[in-house]
Amino acid sequence: MRKKIVAGNWKMNCTFDEGQKLTSEIVNMIKDERSKDVTVILNPPFVHIPSVKKLVGEISNLFVGAQDCSDQESGAYTGQVSAKILNSFGVKYVIIGHSERREFCSEGNDLLANKVKQALQNGLTPIFCCGESLDIRENGSHEDFVTQQLTESLFDLSPEDISKLVIAYEPIWAIGTGKTASSDQAQEMHAAIRTHLANKYGQEIADGISILYGGSCKPDNAQEIFSKPDVDGGLIGGASLKSRDFMDIIKSF
Ligand code: G3P
Repeated sequence: MRKKIVAGNWKMNCTFDEGQKLTSEIVNMIKDERSKDVTVILNPPFVHIPSVKKLVGEISNLFVGAQDCSDQESGAYTGQVSAKILNSFGVKYVIIGHSERREFCSEGNDLLANKVKQALQNGLTPIFCCGESLDIRENGSHEDFVTQQLTESLFDLSPEDISKLVIAYEPIWAIGTGKTASSDQAQEMHAAIRTHLANKYGQEIADGISILYGGSCKPDNAQEIFSKPDVDGGLIGGASLKSRDFMDIIKSF
């Protein structure tokens, strides 16, 4: 059975006090309202990780993640944060290949393949992001584009390692725009991703990999999107910064 997952990507938001308030509110809501079979991951900016981890404590199925990691194990890479260091702080998940890093940090599929390997070698679960731009969607090549992202970044992995991954499909044209993909559009791409994984690794492994939807996922659309057979949860941006909205999305399964 695949994991149901809701991950909150805070992006570059929250001062220390704002992060502490947000985390405390979410922790209290989760204690009172969440069904235990939903895995929740908080992905704050790096500097928040120790203090968020402290508030999260040992609540079951609630984890702290990072928004990126280096493709290097350690060394003279100023400003980067390694998977090894993240693991030492109790981080369990790491977002890799978010479209905003692909765009603003020029992260290509080969670099991301190395980041995925670093994460796996250091005990982190990669949340590997893929997704197309509006022009690619409009010319109808979105399925080829997304499956190529997976092939180039993930298909050197062993069956054992690919099984550890979480995939996040985030159509770029839906991120931060309020223009959410329809549940049918999400299901179409999630099914295509799962088929692509099955063609390479077999149906059993593909069926075990959680595929999350990201892109203007909100309390009023999450339930329909999450109801689709190949949607296993969401990677949430803006709505993860509002504890009530984030909790309502968590309750949308
Ligand atoms: O990583 C999740 C993010 O890209 C989605 O952002 O604000 O559209 O939910 P948002």
